[in-house]
Amino acid sequence: MDLKIILPIIAIQFVISWKTCIMADLSLSREADLQLERQLKTLNKPAIKTFKTQEGDTIDCVDINKQPALDHPLLKNHKVQTRPVTFPTGSPKKSSKSKTSYIRHERESCPDGTVPIRRTSKEDLIKARSMPKESMTQIGPQTSFPAGHRFHTVNVGMKKDVPYFGVDGRLEVWNLTVAKDQYSFTNMWIQNGPPDQLNVILAGWTVSPAINGDQLTRLFTFWTADGARTTGCYNQLCPGFVLTNCSITPNYPLRLTSTYEEQYDVKILIYQDQPTGNWWLVLSDDNVFVGYWPKELFNHLSGGAETVAWGGIAIAGKNGNSPPMGSGLLNLSFRSTCYIRNIQYVDTQNKFRNPDGALEQHLDRSTCYGLKDWKNCGRKEMYYCILFGGEGGRCGD
Ligand SMILES: *[C@@H]1O[C@H](CO)[C@@H](O)[C@H](O)[C@H]1NC(C)=O
Ligand SMILES: *[C@@H]1O[C@H](CO)[C@@H](O)[C@H](O)[C@H]1NC(C)=O
Ligand SMILES: *[C@@H]1O[C@H](CO)[C@@H](O)[C@H](O)[C@H]1NC(C)=O
Repeated sequence: MDLKIILPIIAIQFVISWKTCIMADLSLSREADLQLERQLKTLNKPAIKTFKTQEGDTIDCVDINKQPALDHPLLKNHKVQTRPVTFPTGSPKKSSKSKTSYIRHERESCPDGTVPIRRTSKEDLIKARSMPKESMTQIGPQTSFPAGHRFHTVNVGMKKDVPYFGVDGRLEVWNLTVAKDQYSFTNMWIQNGPPDQLNVILAGWTVSPAINGDQLTRLFTFWTADGARTTGCYNQLCPGFVLTNCSITPNYPLRLTSTYEEQYDVKILIYQDQPTGNWWLVLSDDNVFVGYWPKELFNHLSGGAETVAWGGIAIAGKNGNSPPMGSGLLNLSFRSTCYIRNIQYVDTQNKFRNPDGALEQHLDRSTCYGLKDWKNCGRKEMYYCILFGGEGGRCGD
């Protein structure tokens, strides 16, 4: 064909494809916008009372039986359980030395029959879309980085012999400096299922400006039922996690953080209430029942989990720099490196067990972070104890 004929044809084709592309974009964003509006309506329910916290969170007190968690399609017929039926037995005596980071300060409570829901904004949801979630499902050393999010994981996990019905531990709490697009977590993991259906529950503390909108050290939770492909989220950014306490939210701020002189920790227990199959989140020595992940959310967590672990996750920002993890120091001394102590799991008989001898170390080959499996950290009252973390930066991988 003559060039004079071909060129206009190409030009016309270009204009057409360019136009459809723009139209597709517009309709997509309008569709996405509608979807966001629908999500917001689901998450922000009519409040019986609203207040602002010292940290600037807007809290809506919502009828416990109408909370956003219940909008999950799998929870249509779910009846809220206000208390678990069972509780694990055989916990060691609490040590008088421990200083607890949370509950030292009082936050306003919601009225009886309501639970505190942190108000979600459109920006929160837009940010949530680009949050790295796959990194929350990987326990072993990394060889590749899903969705381009570079991250490092350091932990001890139980050998995969039998199902475990819970994890318990005292996580030392630190204040870290974390960039806007970095994430740093200290947490416990519960996992079960094949990779594309991996069921995951996490709880611990984090400094993650993208999740919280600030630099504060806060509690966090995470769950997914399919390896973070389409289901699950952090905290209450999607329906699923049912709250039962009238004052504690999954993003609760931890105002007291450790220094080299004074150490603070938060006691966290996640366990399966075997008669109902629900997984409960319990805080502190007073056993405050924060809420639970209903069994309906999962298809591989009805009878315990094969994988449980304790440690940290650090997710790098766009420039490839990793945040500090733990205390931000890899000095591996009890005073200056982050500890998790009183590490226990819950067995088939619903008893707390010391993991002695059955732990594996997962330490990725980064040069930034370290791990010491230190039995009792040199003191009997620490029970089972690990030290972990590091400064971050360019992690040499
Ligand atoms: C909720 O948590 C607070 C601690 O902040 C505790 O005092 C209270 O007893 C808890 N309520 C329930 C119903 O568990
Ligand atoms: C932690 O450090 C940030 C600044 O990086 C500060 O805004 C915040 O108040 C500190 N939190 C605590 C508990 O000290
Ligand atoms: C490690 O921490 C201990 C206790 O705080 C301190 O005495 C020591 O100097 C630290 N070492 C380094 C290399 O920072």
